[in-house]
Amino acid sequence: MKKLAIIGAGDLGQQIAYHAAQDNQFEVVGFFDDFATPNTIINQIKVFGKVEDVENGFTNKLFDEVIIGIGYKHLGFREKLYTSLKAVVPFATFIHSSCYIDASCVVGSGVCIFPGVIIDQQAIIKDNVFINISCTIAHDSIIAQHTFLSPRVAIAGFVNIGKRCNIGINSTIIDNINVADDVQIGAGTVVINQIEKSGLYVGNPSRFIR
Ligand SMILES: CC(C)(COP(=O)(O)OP(=O)(O)OC[C@H]1O[C@@H](n2cnc3c(N)ncnc32)[C@H](O)[C@@H]1OP(=O)(O)O)[C@@H](O)C(=O)NCCC(=O)NCCS
Repeated sequence: MKKLAIIGAGDLGQQIAYHAAQDNQFEVVGFFDDFATPNTIINQIKVFGKVEDVENGFTNKLFDEVIIGIGYKHLGFREKLYTSLKAVVPFATFIHSSCYIDASCVVGSGVCIFPGVIIDQQAIIKDNVFINISCTIAHDSIIAQHTFLSPRVAIAGFVNIGKRCNIGINSTIIDNINVADDVQIGAGTVVINQIEKSGLYVGNPSRFIR
């Protein structure tokens, strides 16, 4: 079994650690986190060090693959980490065994897909995307790099979601919609029109609020 390290020892990092281990896909061996004390133990998992220690940790064979547990509040940092580390450490792709991902889909590196997600034919999930429990992504849709999907997001067919987007819980995006980079969508939002500029959108139908 591969040894997995997680960058970020907060709530999201701990959830990833739980699912990756409980699903018997990885041995979760440690966290890297700038705000946790090195060599302390969080939920039985050691804090190896800070983010700057990831490359050395790999060289010293502490882990085989790494994944990012930095969530929707810091998507720019999530991108920066992935971009700076992808050439020097191998990223894991974690897809919980309860998911249905059609064999025609393409799923990138650093992607984390939580339990109960369904992704239909020809969908593309690009690098470093995080997909929370119970999301549904219909055929031919594309989720761009570093984007975060909250639980139970419903995305219809031929949708393009941009980079570093934060899509709120239980939101719905109808078919053939393009969502720009750096868009945040509030809980329960229904997107029926193209979203061409970054910012925060809420409501049904969705409206730009800032
Ligand atoms: C959209 C969101 C981020 C806005 O939070 P905020 O910056 O604190 O904004 P406010 O609460 O000040 O709301 C601003 C306005 O938008 C409205 N609004 C906020 N969220 C809304 C939502 N989900 N649906 C409809 N309207 C919403 C508010 O009623 C308010 O309207 P008003 O100006 O007419 O009074 C938050 O409400 C939200 O929906 N978060 C998603 C949570 C989520 O998905 N969590 C899962 C994490 S895994």
